[in-house]
Parts: sequence; C-alpha cells; structure tokens
Amino acid sequence: MHYGHFDDKAREYVITRPDTPRPWSNYLGSTEYGAIITNHAGGYSFYKSGATGRFLRMRFNSVPLDQPGRLFYLRDQENGDFWSTSWQPVGKPLDKYKSTCRHGMGYTIIESRYASITTEATYFVPLGQTFEYWRLRVTNKSKRERKLSLFTYCEFANLWSTFQDLVNLQYSQFITRATLEDGILGITCNPNFDFDGQDLTSCNRTWMALSGTPLAGVETTRERFCGPYGGYAAPDAVVKGRCSNFLGEGDNIVGGQQADLTLAPGETKEVFVLLGLGTVKSHGWKTVAEFGNPARCEEEFRKLKASWHAPLKNLQVETPDANFDAMINTWNAYNALITYSWSRSASLVYNGERDGLGFRDTVQDILGATPLLKDGVQSRLELMLTGQLANGGAIPVIKPFSHQPGKEPPPPDHEYRSDDCLWFFNTIPAYVAETGDIDFYSKVLPYADRGEATVLGHLRRALEFNLERTGRNGLPCGLAADWNDCIRLGYHGESVFVAFQVRYGLDVYAGIAEKLVQPGEADWARAELAKLDEKIQKTCWDGEWFIWAIGQDGTIYGTKNFPEGQVYMNTQAWAILSGAATPAQTKQALATMREKLATPYGLMLCAPPFIKANPEIMKATLFNAGIKENAGIFSHTQSWAVMAECLQGNGDQAYAYYRAFMPSAYNDRAEIRQVEPYVHCQTTYSRYNVNEGASRVPWLSGTASWAYYSATHWILGIRPEVDGLRIAPCIPKNWPGFKMRRNFRGRLITIEVQNPHGVSSGVRSLTLDGKPLEGDLVPAGRIKPNSKIVAILG
Ligand code: GLC
Repeated sequence: MHYGHFDDKAREYVITRPDTPRPWSNYLGSTEYGAIITNHAGGYSFYKSGATGRFLRMRFNSVPLDQPGRLFYLRDQENGDFWSTSWQPVGKPLDKYKSTCRHGMGYTIIESRYASITTEATYFVPLGQTFEYWRLRVTNKSKRERKLSLFTYCEFANLWSTFQDLVNLQYSQFITRATLEDGILGITCNPNFDFDGQDLTSCNRTWMALSGTPLAGVETTRERFCGPYGGYAAPDAVVKGRCSNFLGEGDNIVGGQQADLTLAPGETKEVFVLLGLGTVKSHGWKTVAEFGNPARCEEEFRKLKASWHAPLKNLQVETPDANFDAMINTWNAYNALITYSWSRSASLVYNGERDGLGFRDTVQDILGATPLLKDGVQSRLELMLTGQLANGGAIPVIKPFSHQPGKEPPPPDHEYRSDDCLWFFNTIPAYVAETGDIDFYSKVLPYADRGEATVLGHLRRALEFNLERTGRNGLPCGLAADWNDCIRLGYHGESVFVAFQVRYGLDVYAGIAEKLVQPGEADWARAELAKLDEKIQKTCWDGEWFIWAIGQDGTIYGTKNFPEGQVYMNTQAWAILSGAATPAQTKQALATMREKLATPYGLMLCAPPFIKANPEIMKATLFNAGIKENAGIFSHTQSWAVMAECLQGNGDQAYAYYRAFMPSAYNDRAEIRQVEPYVHCQTTYSRYNVNEGASRVPWLSGTASWAYYSATHWILGIRPEVDGLRIAPCIPKNWPGFKMRRNFRGRLITIEVQNPHGVSSGVRSLTLDGKPLEGDLVPAGRIKPNSKIVAILG
C-alpha cells in the first residue's frame, strides 16, 4: 500500500493519503530556530535546544502522536460545519475530505479540499530569522458566495522548558500571560520580569500575528479554546464559531485567533500567521511590518528553497533504480544534513532530553555531510577534535554553545567509551580527500582539558588511548561501551569491535604518515598493527565467524558456545573493513552473515536474541527480542555489511542488502515499515518480534550518514582520495551503468560508468575528457570544471 510518492523534480515527498500508519514528519528552520511538522500540521518549535528552548508545545507519545501543532480550522458560518486544513485533528471522512501534504526541504505544504473549499497551508522558517510563517490560501470552489470563519491554534510551552511545561504544573500553570498589543498576541512566562529584547536565550517571550485579514477575535487559553472536553477534534471556540477575547493570566496560553472570510465564487484569500521570538514590542510589530505581506513571504520561501537545494547540486546521480535516485539525490542527502544539524535532539521521538552532540554520533554524522557541504564541516570537525581529551579519550557529549576547549573537566574513568575518537579515522581522511587539504593534519588544536596537538597528533592519541587500555588477551578494553550502547563488559572486558576499529585506525594512520613523509610514525603504526593482528588471530576467530567480545570475567560473547547473541554482525563486517580478516575468514564471515543474520528487511545486529543474559553486562536483554540492540535490524550498521560485500566485489549482494533497508524501496508497502518512506530510521523489528518489518525512530540516526556514504562511495564507488578521484563501482550486474554529477574540489564534473559486460566491478578502461588513463584513479590535477570521466567496467 502506498500513501504518497516522490516528486523528484520538486524535491518533495507528496503524501496523497493522509491516514498514514503514523504521522510522517519533516523539519523546518535552523539550529537556531528549530521546528518539526507532520503531515497533520502537528509538531513543535524551539530556540536552539529542544529541551530548554521549547516554546511551542507538542505532547509526546500522545494519541495521535503529533498533537497539537500549527492548526487552522475553518467553519462554515451558514451551516456550522467545521474542519481542519490538515486532515487531523478534525478528521473528516476521507470520502469527502481530500488532502495532500508536500514535505520539501525546510518546508511543508498541506493542501485540503472539503465542501468545495480548497486550502493550501505553507509552513516554513525564513532563512536567518527567528520567526515562522504559516501562509494559508483559501479558495472558494463553489458557485456561490461562502462565509467562513478561520481559526488558528497552537499551544505555547511554559518556561521554554519541555520538562517544566509537562511536569511541574503546580508552578508552570501560574506564570503565563497573554496580551493583545495593536492586534498582535504577546505570550509571556514570568510576566513581571523585564525583557530587554536583545538576548533571546530563555527570554520566554513569543508573539503571534495574523496578517492579510482583520482579526475578528482571540481566544488565548486552551481551557476556553478547546473547552474542558472538546479536544482538538471539536474545540469549543470552533464549534461555537466565536472567540471570547479573553486574555489569559495563568493556565495554558494558546494562539487562538479568528478571522471572518467572505469569499466570492472562485475567489482566493491569502492570510499569514507570523509567530516568533521576543516581545510584540521588540520583534513582533517590526517583523509583521516587514514580512507580513504576500510578496515578501513568497520571496523568503524562494530563498529558503534555493538555499536547501544548493548543496544537493554537489552530488547527483542517475541510475536504473528510481527509488535509489530519489534517496541519493534528495532525501538521504537531506536526512544526512538534518541529522548533522540536530544530532539526536529533536524529532517525534527525541524530545530534547538528548541535547548536545553525542561524540561518536556526531563524528560519524560528519561523514554524510562532507560531500555536500562546502562550509562548516571543518569547524564541526575541529569542535569534535577539541572534545578529545589529552589522554586520547573523549567527552561523551559536546555542548556546542558552551564548549570551552582547554577547560573542560575530563569525565570520571568509568565513563569513557572505547570507540569515541576512533571514528575520526573514517571522517577526517574522508574530509581531507574531499577537500585535498592535507595541511589539515598539521593544524594545531587544543584538547578539551589541557594541552594541544596537531590533528595528526590527535589521531595518534586516539590510537594510544586504546592501545594503553587492554585486557587479558591484549585486546582493547570495552570501557563504558563501544559503538553498542548495550554492552558493559567491565572496564577490562575486551571489545573485538574496537580491536578492528583500532586496526583500521592504525592502517589509516600509517597511510597518512606516509603521505606526510613521517616514516617514523608510519613504522610505529605498522608495528602496532602487526602486534594487534597476532592477538586478533589468536583470540577472535570462532571457526565460522568472529566473536563479539570478552567480558571482564573471561566470558566470551558471540561464539557457538554462548546460546544468545551467537553471531554479531559488527565484528564480521569490521573484521573485513579493517583488513584483519584473512581471505578465507572473509569468505566464511560473509557467508555466516548471509545465513544467520540476513532477513528481507535487513541484517539483524545479532542472533539469537538475549533473553537470559545478565543485563548488567548485556543490556540488550532489557529490550524485547527482535528490536534495537537485541537482535533487531539496526539500520546504522547495514552499510558496513554493504561495504564489506563491495570490498569483495559482490555487487548483487551489496545492493540486495542496501535495498533491504532503503526507505524508498518500501514506498509501495509503506504499511509494513510504518515510518516515513523518505527517511532512514534507527531500527526495524526482526523476525524475533511480532512487529517484524516495522521500523522505528525515523530521521535522526547514524544510518543517514553511512547509507549516503556507502551508496555514493562504495556501491557507486566514486571515492575522492588525496591524489584524485578513485572510480571503483560495485554495482548490480544487471545495471547497464550510471551517471554521477559531482563537485570535486570546486569543479562540477560528470562521471559516466558503463557496464556493457554485465559485471559488478573492475574498471577495464578509463578516460578523462576523452583521453585514456591507466588504472582507476583520475589524478586531481587533471580534473577541470566540466570534466567528463568515462569508465567502462569489464
Ligand atoms: C544509538 C546511539 C549510538 C549507538 C547506537 C548503538 O544509535 O545514538 O550512539 O552507537 O545506538 O547502540
């Protein structure tokens, strides 16, 4: 069953059936003024932080999942019938009510048609501004004049704090106040405090205006607008058709505004809600005067779209799979940029409680943004490098607005994660390869707590951190966790996953050192690598697959002899990605993955699930079987399997794995996956659970970054390296080829891959602007603007 389709040209996902299995969401705004919206106009807004800057309320995990939000109601004054301009919350019967929702990049347009009235509501936050627009066009499609009342509705969160707002009601319900100043609503918490209009942080002041039509009345408390029992489906004010103009002092302040519209047959009226930060006096009047007109709104909308669409030009593809193209050209890219911006802080699932930049997640998120963004990536990388401590470990969460390199206290020993800084070995070389800026390795940056080092020095400390903390088999300690948040091996327990990460890191480090002509460093890394390889081979191979980990007490996880979590996907994939696996082990480990972990919906993280294992060590036991870390299909890791298959040239298998978790591949059976078919999610229920196939936690997941990277750099195989562009596709055999248009160091070029012999990989011939090249690397110095690279596989 499908609920919508991809409009690739407009870069929109168009929901044509509003009764989606769950509300399907989108992002508006920026990291300053953030906002979430769903196809039912549900959602919330916040300033900088979802937790401590929340000013528009949405009640999490409610029924439905996304109310309230930014609502428009219409009421026919002649017969009293009313509806909302999004299908929910009124929920008119779908044989009479038509609705379309177009989610675009940074905006959402919801259209409706009911009782011969059509509406189009466009929601967005103009670039660089601290207010949002809700533009509504109402058209009378009937042959007679229509008299309608329009009502706006949203709820303001108290104290700009999600927790105070929903929990501390004995306080937060008594500090609120609404004012009406020259037709603009002012919403205040702690109204007796002055606000100077300058620093918006926690100013607790918002304003809301209706422009384009006279204000007929206001209803400023939820208690009056909805009534005690009307709810959002049949709020009192709308049922009655009038507002009381009561200005609330206490209780729940809401943005209820009324306008009366008389529409001739065929006539369209356009009205605007502008809602933003600051007081009416400091921001409201000025903003409405400048922005509250159709021409300005349209101009801001155009600017916003252009700004979001611009980075996409840096990488566009044309392959035989339209679903794949829809993801790579728009949605996966957008998903990666949103995740890069918001980390794990704000969605319909994350309510702000995870504020800040989780170290490992953020370093990985940078990987997805690197080919797309030409600005900002380096400063984000530098921010993370300055979150590394002088001992080589990392602060688990960086607070970007208050981070003070050189002055941050190190965490207590038992809080270090073993993997945090090892992700630099994926991200930093990718950044340097993208930009060609090899001098970045020589840039000196402070550590979080004390001292400083070059970027190369930071990388060395990262390796030393793990080399200095080893367990009884000489493998890296698991510490508080590795990538898997659910394992507590004990400080001296050993993580095989991290062993592979360290191996990968040493190899990468040696390569960088050679490039920088630092042979001593390269020798050091290679010697450490050889020692580590010996330990890995001695301890980690179980006969048919690599083990998972070794607990502090010596228990081996991920082995034939342990009944739960016998096979762990990450150590198979990373044994191969790191180069630790021998050719025979590689073949066998891949076969084991296919046999024991692969399902139609993706590869399970492990199998069988944990039921009896000690949750003090295997926290996965806390979850139901078949989800998240407990034998669920963890989307984040799928790309590692894809890349491992690509490394062996298995293009068909790699692509089969890719499509199994690719959201758009489920567009025609969206009822299975349930969440948005245009974005990645964190996890999907596996066959060990009654919800098999259903996905959860859409949008904010490391999946976005890795899925984008594995598709573009490994399946399509167009990989920047310091010296040039490597052309190493690993595609399905039945693809006749593909095209990519890519920005390579400021030059837009075209790469065309032809596959006349029906193979997956192996470049038989390569030309640059018609001239033949040896091998599969196009030298950077020879690539010009508009260069055309043609590769023939075979
Ligand atoms: C979540 C966390 C991530 C972790 C993963 C596996 O996605 O955000 O940091 O690596 O779970 O536990």
